[in-house]
Amino acid sequence: MTHSTILILGMILVTLNGFSVDISGSDCSCDTFTTQLDCNSASSCEWSNSECVDIDCSTKTTILQCNVANSICAFTPSNECATFTSCSDYKYTDEATCLTIGCLADTKGTDGLYPCKAITSILKCSELTTETECTNHHCFWNSSAACVAPTCAQQTTATDCLAIRSDVVTTWQICNWTPATSTCADATGLTQTNCAVLTRGSYYWNTDTSACEVCEGSSSYSQFITLGLALLMLII
Ligand SMILES: *[C@@H]1O[C@H](CO)[C@@H](O)[C@H](O)[C@H]1NC(C)=O
Repeated sequence: MTHSTILILGMILVTLNGFSVDISGSDCSCDTFTTQLDCNSASSCEWSNSECVDIDCSTKTTILQCNVANSICAFTPSNECATFTSCSDYKYTDEATCLTIGCLADTKGTDGLYPCKAITSILKCSELTTETECTNHHCFWNSSAACVAPTCAQQTTATDCLAIRSDVVTTWQICNWTPATSTCADATGLTQTNCAVLTRGSYYWNTDTSACEVCEGSSSYSQFITLGLALLMLII
């Protein structure tokens, strides 16, 4: 899926469930972001000398610093942090580390390491048929034993009441927390403060139009980011 034009979020993404954003497009280019918070929310960007720039993998020296830039940098078998190439180029001592670069772990090899493999599909809630599988994918098992997307209203804490998946994992429903009543409801839109953060840098706040807008395909990392982000939703 590519976005060929910039579309105003509110015009295209109000769904039956409330307010949602499609994060399957590209990230904004790093120079779009002017605050450290917005900059750091984009997977491929980092804040350096008061500017938002493309992440420089070569400056990361540990696996923790390196793989945190989801699907952008990856720690190689020769212990260097370099631009992510393909899942099958990496192997780690534990399965979870493959997840941190937007991949899955394959069966443990004779060297005791788990080779990573690409994620080929991420299931929709409606495709999951057991309660365990359903809840593991952050979906909701309803009283007629069907797996459906969670709703904002079901979220009971402020931290869960931000952005939740919909049936398709690349579309997130945006929620809004009311502290006075401790309730979570569908948001009516994104604001200057949460636009880039809640979309992890797929959208930016346009000060000319005062709207949260989706970015055009400007990031060279776009095809890696989509599945990585989708996966991140499943593991956090
Ligand atoms: C559970 O979800 C299914 C599929 O969306 C729906 O048809 C059914 O009515 C739901 N049951 C309840 C009790 O909401």
